[in-house]
Amino acid sequence: MIEKVELGKTGLNIHPIGLGANKIDEENKKTNTEYGGKVLSTAIENGLNFIDTAYYYGKGVSEEIIGKTLKENNSRDGIVITTKGAHKFTNDGIILDNSPAFLTNAVDESLKRLQTDVIDLFYIHFPDENTPKYEAIGALQRLKEAGKIRSIGVSNFSMDQLKEANQDGYLNVVQANYNLIDRSAEKEIFPFMLENDISFVPYYPLASGLLTEKYTKETVISDKNKARPQFQDDVFMKHVEKVKNLRGIAEKYDVKIHHIVLAFYLTRAPIDAVIPGARNTDQVLSNLKAASIQLTPKDIQIIEDLFPLD
Ligand SMILES: NC(=O)c1ccc[n+]([C@@H]2O[C@H](COP(=O)([O-])OP(=O)(O)OC[C@H]3O[C@@H](n4cnc5c(N)ncnc54)[C@H](OP(=O)(O)O)[C@@H]3O)[C@@H](O)[C@H]2O)c1
Repeated sequence: MIEKVELGKTGLNIHPIGLGANKIDEENKKTNTEYGGKVLSTAIENGLNFIDTAYYYGKGVSEEIIGKTLKENNSRDGIVITTKGAHKFTNDGIILDNSPAFLTNAVDESLKRLQTDVIDLFYIHFPDENTPKYEAIGALQRLKEAGKIRSIGVSNFSMDQLKEANQDGYLNVVQANYNLIDRSAEKEIFPFMLENDISFVPYYPLASGLLTEKYTKETVISDKNKARPQFQDDVFMKHVEKVKNLRGIAEKYDVKIHHIVLAFYLTRAPIDAVIPGARNTDQVLSNLKAASIQLTPKDIQIIEDLFPLD
């Protein structure tokens, strides 16, 4: 049984391996919510209790699947639901909006889709250009005081935006891109998190699958991944080679490379939990195993040397 950890200073107790739920809507868009629900309920039955979603994931479909599944299984208690808002879908495309009125409405709409009275953690998904960040966070603080959300997060904010967002000390969690291939958050953001008691949740922890054993130099890259920087020809070849070098550590623990990668993140001071995206029940079950690995200082050094900070 894995011990739960507190997410920063939020009072929320979570299993350190969460579920990134941006895929659970994909397989069933054409049919129904059964598939995504199965991924989620399998995760919960096996101890996972930290779910990361957003309105943006399927325009509310991921949230709806989570709401429906938790309701049907009567399993909302003990589950920490995090969601995000900022995207406004219009006839002219997507507009980002952090205005207090928009965020207040976004929280109400997410509560309905999630079929719950309170969202454990609500993030501003992306910064907009116009709203002062302390005003946006002030709106979330009022929603917290009203009991609609339990804690406050932001995602994809620059360092200056983070400082402005936290000027009244209301920020609990920051979510941003971080993985072995791009460790740049360690330079400026991690020290800020530690100074301000803010927890850091990395997204793309598996670099969209590249930090697993599924890729070899011969793998044909899917159209979706082709656009991502880490899948460009030379870069891809270089990373496949480096990832292979983690096999020795994985064998020592009798696990797979992605377990070592996830376990490494949990050694970083501001990270309490990770949210790998899972496409199916096998992936979600496999990822949970990473929580029981305790890397030694020597293993950590080897990993840092293989994937150095730029
Ligand atoms: N705040 C933001 O702006 C933002 C942006 C992106 C993501 N996120 C959040 O972060 C979460 C994680 O990001 P992500 O899902 O995009 O990327 P990720 O976690 O780096 O990669 C997920 C992919 O890795 C592969 N994978 C996962 N578990 C595996 C396993 N056990 N064995 C082999 N392959 C495995 C799967 O690839 P295949 O699909 O190829 O099978 C899966 O789709 C998301 O679900 C979302 O909740 C937030």
